[in-house]
Amino acid sequence: MEKLVIEGGRPLTGTLRIHGSKNAALPILAGCILVDGKLSIENVPDLLDIKVMIEILNAIGCEANHQDERVLLDTSSIYSHHIPEDLMKQMRSSIFMMGPLLARFGQVQVYQPGGCAIGERKIDLHLKGLKALGAVVEESEQTIICRAEKLIGADIHLDFPSVGATENILMAAVLAEGDTTIQNAAREPEIEDLANFLNKMGAHITGAGTEKIHIKGVKKLTPCHYRIIPDRIVAGTLMIAAAATGGNVELNSVCPEHLKALMHVLKKADVQITLKNDIIKINSLNRPKSLDRIVTSPYPAFPTDLQSQIMVLMSMSEGITTIKEKIFEQRFRHVDELKRMGADIRVNNNIAYIRGVPRLYGAKVKATDLRAGAALVVAGLAGKGTTTVEHIYHIDRGYVQIENIFKQLGANITRCVESPVSK
Ligand code: EPZ
Repeated sequence: MEKLVIEGGRPLTGTLRIHGSKNAALPILAGCILVDGKLSIENVPDLLDIKVMIEILNAIGCEANHQDERVLLDTSSIYSHHIPEDLMKQMRSSIFMMGPLLARFGQVQVYQPGGCAIGERKIDLHLKGLKALGAVVEESEQTIICRAEKLIGADIHLDFPSVGATENILMAAVLAEGDTTIQNAAREPEIEDLANFLNKMGAHITGAGTEKIHIKGVKKLTPCHYRIIPDRIVAGTLMIAAAATGGNVELNSVCPEHLKALMHVLKKADVQITLKNDIIKINSLNRPKSLDRIVTSPYPAFPTDLQSQIMVLMSMSEGITTIKEKIFEQRFRHVDELKRMGADIRVNNNIAYIRGVPRLYGAKVKATDLRAGAALVVAGLAGKGTTTVEHIYHIDRGYVQIENIFKQLGANITRCVESPVSK
C-alpha cells in the first residue's frame, strides 16, 4: 500500500496549471458512444477513474487510448451493451453509460452500482428519467437491464437536481424522437461542458447550466474534437491549501466563474484573491477568520466536493464555524482524522461545529474517500510536524499525482510504499 509523508508548516508558493475536470471528462467520454466514428478529447487528466472509464469503453468494443491528456476513440466497432461487473464495482459513475448505450443500441445492462463511503448514492432519478423516455427497466438485486425500441422525447421533472441523472437523461434524449425538457436540472459547469460537447456533434440542446434544459432530438450525430474544462474542485482544493498554509499561489488555466461560492467564503475568511482572465492568485497574510455558517448545496451554491477541504481551513480560524452538509449522508468521515491532528470539531447529524485552534499538528491518518483524503493532505501541509496519510488510492481517483502538484508549490511531500513490516 502507498502512503504520503508530509513535513508540514511551510507556506505554499509558486504557480501551477490546473488539470482537466474528472467530472466533465467522465460523462463526455461516455457520450462519445452516441456517435459512430473517430473522436479526440483533449485535457483529459490521467486519473484512476478515467483509467476505469477507458477500460469500460474498450470492454464494449470501443477503441480508446489515453496519452498526454488526450483520448483518441473509435466507436465504430462497439459490439456490447453490457458493462462488466468488476469495472462497474470499481467506479460507480459508470452508471452514466446507460443513457448513451440505450440511445445508440436500444438496450443496456449494468450492475447495481451500490453506495460508497459518502452515502447511499441512489439512482432512482436516473431510472425515472429513462423510463419517461420510453425505456422498459428490469431491476434485480444484481443487475439493471433497460430496453427501448425507440426513445421518445418527454417532459421530465427531477425531484432533486441530480448531476448524474441530468447527464444520463441528456445523453439519452439527444437521439430521441421529438423534444425533451428536463425541469429542476442540475446546473453544474460539467453539465454545460457535456451539452457543449454534444452540440458540437450536432445535438440541439438549450438551457444547459440553468434549471430547465430543452433537447430537440436528432437522428444522427457527427464525431468531433473537444477540449474538457479545468477541474474546479482541484482548483478549489489548491486555493484552500494556499490559504491554510499562509501561502502565495498563482493558479492558471482555471475558470473563476466556476468558483464564485468558494471565493465568497475565502474573502469572508480574510484571504486575498485577485483574478485575471484564467488566473486566480491567492495570498493569505493572516490567520483565517471563521464564518458563522457554510452550507453545501447544488451549484452554484457551495460545493459538497470542497466541504472537507474548507473544514480544514475553518479548523484553524479565529472563532466558531458551522458546516451543514446537505448533499450526502456520510460526508464527515474526515472529522475524526482531523481531530487526531488537533482540530476541535463536534458533529451532530449533518452539521459540524468547528472551534478554530491556532494550529494543527502532524499525525498518522487514513483517507476514507476522495475529497476527505485531499483534505487530510491539506491539513498535513498546514500542520506542524510530520503527517502520514494512508489509503491514498482514494486520492488518486481525483488528483493527478497529488504529491507532485504540491511539490511544485514548495511542499515537502513524498509518496512511499508502506512495507508490511512498518505496520
Ligand atoms: C456527482 O455525483 C459528482 N460525481 C460528485 O463528485 C459530486 O459530489 C456530486 O455530483 C454532487 O455535486 C461525478 O460527477 C462523477 P448527484 P452524482 O446525483 O452524480 C441523491 C467527487 O468527489 N440522488 O447529484 O452521483 C444522491 O444520493 C464526486 O468528484 C438520488 O437520491 O451526484 C446524493 O445524495 C463525489 N437519486 C445526491 O442526490 C438519484 O437518482 C447528489 O447526487 C441520484 C442522486
